[in-house]
Amino acid sequence: MKPKIFITRQIPTHVMNQLKEVCDVSIWNEEDTPVPREILEEKIVDIDGLYCLLTDTIDEELLQKAKNLKVISNMAVGFNNIDVDAATKRGIIVTNTPGVLTETTADLTFALLMATARRITEASDFLRSGKWSSWSPMLLTGQDIYNSTMGIIGLGGIGKALAKRAQGFNMNVLYHNRSRKLDSEQELGLEYCSLEDLLKRSDYVCIMTPYTPETKNMIRDEHFKIMKDTSILINTARGGIVNENDLYYALKDGEIWAAGLDVFEQEPVDFNHPLLTLPNVVTLPHIGSASIGTRTKMAEVVAENMLQALNGEIPVNIVNKEIVSNKSPISYFN
Ligand code: DGY
Repeated sequence: MKPKIFITRQIPTHVMNQLKEVCDVSIWNEEDTPVPREILEEKIVDIDGLYCLLTDTIDEELLQKAKNLKVISNMAVGFNNIDVDAATKRGIIVTNTPGVLTETTADLTFALLMATARRITEASDFLRSGKWSSWSPMLLTGQDIYNSTMGIIGLGGIGKALAKRAQGFNMNVLYHNRSRKLDSEQELGLEYCSLEDLLKRSDYVCIMTPYTPETKNMIRDEHFKIMKDTSILINTARGGIVNENDLYYALKDGEIWAAGLDVFEQEPVDFNHPLLTLPNVVTLPHIGSASIGTRTKMAEVVAENMLQALNGEIPVNIVNKEIVSNKSPISYFN
């Protein structure tokens, strides 16, 4: 019997075909919408593998219903949508998709930084709404990027890729991370500093850290107060790392100059969210890794991780490595 897997969204045909060759596949195939919780609860009972997205909440309550689940393969580098401890407790492997999306997400982060600094969306809307009457010295003036200081909070792969882009703009790059990365300091000329120092000195504060209980609301009122009033906050990591209410007031009261946000605490963000009313906020619908090539590679990596786990191998991108040491390898293919 083929292992049973459930896929929570449409995926590229070649990846689907690859999975169908060796697995009994079912897919939530409504128009591009997240799978309803009740369907997930029904499916989870007897599947061996789950191919899920960051829009799917895989919590303890759901996992309690899973009788055969061996692997949860998440199509994202972030896995804050999954209760990894609950999965580990049940011997379920969790995997993610690091690496393949690094450069694409760094590109988008730099694009958002530039759009926010130079007021690109505001300027485009201004022109299209017929308000442009003449060239004017102070019309839609923004902040300089070249020669400025970038502060990166969380120096993982994407943070480093962002630092490389900053080098091209002759930026001075500071970083704050749980541990110092001496190699990267040398390779990229980065300066390690405390969070407080980074916030005080940076023109661009870029959030690149994973979302965990420790980083929830990590940037809040007291931090905006010490940032420069000309500074710009860029968040392409997870919305909940920044306290959105405090950010709103910091932007409104001029404690910081602008923000570029690809992520929100609740997604999709409510259309009436106060942050969307501010002209000095550039917003995107969580598209950091959204290039055709990268999203295709992510789907391929999810499938590869899934098949490795079901074949009794240690998946390349296992998140909860601790469980494999207690397991003897079993293949679920026959
Ligand atoms: C991730 O992978 O965690 C991104 O947020 C979506 O690509």
